[in-house]
Amino acid sequence: MKIDVLTLFPEVFETYLQTSVIKRAQDSEAVQVKLVNFREYSLDRHHTVDDYPFGGGAGMVLKPEPLFRAVEALNKDDKAIDRIILLSPQGKPFTQSIAKELSNVQRLMLICGHYEGFDERIREHLVTDELSIGDYVLTGGELAALVVMDAVIRLIPGVLGNPDSASSDSFANGLLEHPQYTRPRKFIDWEVPEVLLSGNHQEIAKWRHEQSLLRTLQRRPELLANVELSQKDREWLKQQQRNEPTV
Ligand SMILES: C[S@@+](CC[C@H](N)C(=O)[O-])C[C@H]1O[C@@H](n2cnc3c(N)ncnc32)[C@H](O)[C@@H]1O
Repeated sequence: MKIDVLTLFPEVFETYLQTSVIKRAQDSEAVQVKLVNFREYSLDRHHTVDDYPFGGGAGMVLKPEPLFRAVEALNKDDKAIDRIILLSPQGKPFTQSIAKELSNVQRLMLICGHYEGFDERIREHLVTDELSIGDYVLTGGELAALVVMDAVIRLIPGVLGNPDSASSDSFANGLLEHPQYTRPRKFIDWEVPEVLLSGNHQEIAKWRHEQSLLRTLQRRPELLANVELSQKDREWLKQQQRNEPTV
């Protein structure tokens, strides 16, 4: 996969891209990330990328020309860009299923905003998608682009050493992940659940699935509406709700 990131602050990405799974993914050529400062595509003497909003108001707005020119130039230099994504608090909420879908794309472009926002024509005529990483406003799209890139890259086949880690993560099957324990078996007064030490893989899988259901019910009950639950799952959840009237 190839990812082009259009930003006014490419230096923000450098440390993160040189760390852990994302670094390994680039080293193994599963992904190639290109950071492009779209200021370079501004034609005027001062390389201006923003201007005052028509109609007045606070802040500056990103001009359309540098971004349109940057996308046009990058589109020519290699295989066509499949998805051009604008990071924006007004976008579609980014989820694990969107990350999964994007992990199958050949070439992705992420556009990071700054200042007060974008000229609306960028939204309407340049990008294919608009994604938000949450209902809050960041100073720029750089952190949002890193969030999207990280979530997507770790799902590219072969990037994670053990492919099972992504498939058992929270949200992979619509549920939150079950609790995890490691050594020691007893820490202070708290013991690891007996079933995890039993060596009975079927019982362990059953316990984990039930804990995953329970945790989702307790913390994010709205997620259960989008999960295909078996009759057994439904009954077990009902029983938990009867046992724990606070959930
Ligand atoms: C200060 S924000 C502009 C917010 C804009 N005035 C609005 O109300 O929609 C500057 C840039 O940060 C990025 N950004 C801010 N919050 C974001 C979020 N929750 N998700 C994705 N990108 C975000 C976008 O690229 C945005 O153009």
